[in-house]
Amino acid sequence: MKFFIDTANIEEIRKASEWGILSGVTTNPSLIAKEGRDFIEVIKEITSIVDGPISAEVIGLKTDEMVKEGEQLASLHKNIVIKIPMTVEGLKAVHALKQKNIKTNVTLIFSANQALMAARAGASYVSPFAGRLDDIGYDGISLIEDIHQIFAYHGIETEIIAASIRHPMHVTQSAKAGSDIATVPYKVLEQMIKHPLTDIGIEKFLADWNKAQK
Ligand code: E4P
Repeated sequence: MKFFIDTANIEEIRKASEWGILSGVTTNPSLIAKEGRDFIEVIKEITSIVDGPISAEVIGLKTDEMVKEGEQLASLHKNIVIKIPMTVEGLKAVHALKQKNIKTNVTLIFSANQALMAARAGASYVSPFAGRLDDIGYDGISLIEDIHQIFAYHGIETEIIAASIRHPMHVTQSAKAGSDIATVPYKVLEQMIKHPLTDIGIEKFLADWNKAQK
């Protein structure tokens, strides 16, 4: 499973990219709004840091608006992937963008049927939102398992991006469920590195080393 970072914060992207673990970036309108900066400027800056798929989401809800925005965003850089919400209008936009060789990531996926339809419309990626399903008492990870099973069974090449990741266990569970990618907030990436026994181990090794030097 590959790692994307789920943020529009340049510092976070820069730091995680230095760790050598990043394959891409996902943003959404809420994450962009949080930065209080121009959308296009932020996306362009991200493309200069990470050489991998960078999802930028459309705002329009009509197919023609989504296609127009998608074309504009895709013209910024070869790595831009257009994030499209899972609606009828969205499916039509995915299909139209596919004809223009523009990659899409269908977002706000909450059922296996939605994922299957997005894939059949021509999506390069689908983003099931694990955390938001857990929030309302459903099992987000079992949705990822279902989508993986269906895509594998039918030879569907659309990649699964486990999204709405809230904690390190979600990442492990997504990997076990067969997700191709997890898009992870910076805070969770940091938590994944840490283990108390690692810190204790380093302390002990150094203490033993220093004792032997006396
Ligand atoms: C996915 O691409 C979305 O940006 C994201 O994972 C949403 O996560 P949230 O539920 O924490 O807002």
